Amino acid sequence: MTMTHLCKKTPVTVVNGQLPGPTIEVTEGDSVIVHVVNKSPHNITIHWHGVRQLQNGWNDGVPMVTQCPIQPNQNFTYRFNVAGQVGTLWWHAHVSCLRGTLHGAIVIRPRDGTNSYPFPKPDREVPVVIGDWWSIDLAQVDRKMQDNFFDYFPSGSTLNGKLGDLFNCSGVHEDSFMLDVEPGKTYLLRIINAGLFSEYFFKVAGHRFTVVGSDANYVTPFTTDLIVIVPGETVDALLVADARPGKYYMVALPNQAPLPDTQTPEPATRGIRLGNAGNTGKPAAALPVMPNQHDVAQSLYFHSNLSSLQHPHHPVPQVPKRVDEHMFVTLGLGTACRHGGFKCNWDVESETGLVATMNNISFMVPTAPLLPEHYRHVGSQLSTLVELPDKPPMVFNFTDVSLIPVGPKEKKLETTYKATLARWFRYGSAVEIVFQSTAMLQGDSNPMHLHGHDMFVLAQGAGNYDEARDVPKYNLVNPPRKNTVVVPNLGWVAVRFVADNPGVWYMHCHYEFHLAMGMTAVFIVEDGPTANTSLPPPPVGFPTCSNNEYLVPREVSLQTPQHTVSRLMD
Ligand code: C2O
Repeated sequence: MTMTHLCKKTPVTVVNGQLPGPTIEVTEGDSVIVHVVNKSPHNITIHWHGVRQLQNGWNDGVPMVTQCPIQPNQNFTYRFNVAGQVGTLWWHAHVSCLRGTLHGAIVIRPRDGTNSYPFPKPDREVPVVIGDWWSIDLAQVDRKMQDNFFDYFPSGSTLNGKLGDLFNCSGVHEDSFMLDVEPGKTYLLRIINAGLFSEYFFKVAGHRFTVVGSDANYVTPFTTDLIVIVPGETVDALLVADARPGKYYMVALPNQAPLPDTQTPEPATRGIRLGNAGNTGKPAAALPVMPNQHDVAQSLYFHSNLSSLQHPHHPVPQVPKRVDEHMFVTLGLGTACRHGGFKCNWDVESETGLVATMNNISFMVPTAPLLPEHYRHVGSQLSTLVELPDKPPMVFNFTDVSLIPVGPKEKKLETTYKATLARWFRYGSAVEIVFQSTAMLQGDSNPMHLHGHDMFVLAQGAGNYDEARDVPKYNLVNPPRKNTVVVPNLGWVAVRFVADNPGVWYMHCHYEFHLAMGMTAVFIVEDGPTANTSLPPPPVGFPTCSNNEYLVPREVSLQTPQHTVSRLMD
């Protein structure tokens, strides 16, 4: 449909005519069935961000990883169970920029009722989806990104789809998100960062929050007046309407790395928390005092405050004490030949491009989905996978800010290449990854999201990771469990997870430009010894990439390998 904001009509792709899209409300233990009817002109998949999808990778919704995109005028039915998770998750298209308007909340209530919340029972629950508004067709931004052009920026930020009164068209204010409260009542805000580009600072004037959950896991409650939320992340926070009756602004301000990083427009948005005085004119609303948008250390402070909370009905599993696989993964930008390998003319601009990397390799999207090939142990893509190394090829001062501007120093380090990066894990292995943000051409943070698993966040810090200094700081008692962890600006984070979900899982940065530039890998978790620990056959009717064929279960394919391979290559 077409939406008009800031005096401009923009084509947008949305679900059921809504922005944000419909909220999916479930009780833990529910099975969810979603019929997607693609009436748009674009290829689409829908990803259920943070849903554990145990043994259910077929429904994870990643194009060319788990499935073929749903083509225009085609349908696809997603089925998944929500188990062992309580709180807020969300769904979004996993087709590059289109997720900027194709997204919505997933609210998971406890099976034993909201009386079992480990915090004062809220009087109302309100999803607050933070997003950005693009005055240009996102499909075009997407095409341009594929073409190595990254100079488009959002023209505004939004709260539940509303730009708010900092924006206007010929003097007429844009609509604001309104939170109408009754004095003394408690509100559970389910905050989601669905933006493509930025971490956000979120505040409500005259109020403090009690943070109680994140990424559909309870956390030890703590109070703060500032929430920092990165793309992909959710934060559940209580807000008590205990201020004097009146109007109070809530503000979502994108932060950004300070100079020498490239500065981009980062427009704040605001909504209004109304008192019982309602909207009837009267005194100007109070404004919260926001941190400086360059004060990115606030993100490190906020995220360091998270710890997991034991709950009798939601026991937190033990952090694995023994680690089977250690990885150290650097994140940064670089230059690579457009079509993979090193054989291109490095002096010709059209042959190379700016890429984002993990351990200095940039992800190349496969041309057929990996999960079906992995399931059958045959296929054209499997043979081209390149193993994500456990270490970067070179050790240097990763966070040296003089590497940010283009220059001879970074030039020596930036050469990289494109490949379909994969890392295999034996079923049940305990994996530790230290992610290190680097200063290679930028000093951004990196919100890393792992599909199909939650990660324990053991520690995080500024600067270069130092094993001798930092391992003793690991929280092995109550680390938070997250599906999206922020690797701080020019800093590091250490995570552990158990590879207990057989299948092929995307692991990537949730900034759209980093994702589009290749800061991605697939984690392949092999089958365990039993049916309960193996990837089950594809659902009946699981489509292949050609319009009217369906994937045949493994038993059948083994008898007719030739036929199968040619089908996969269609
Ligand atoms: Cu929310 Cu692979 O993403």
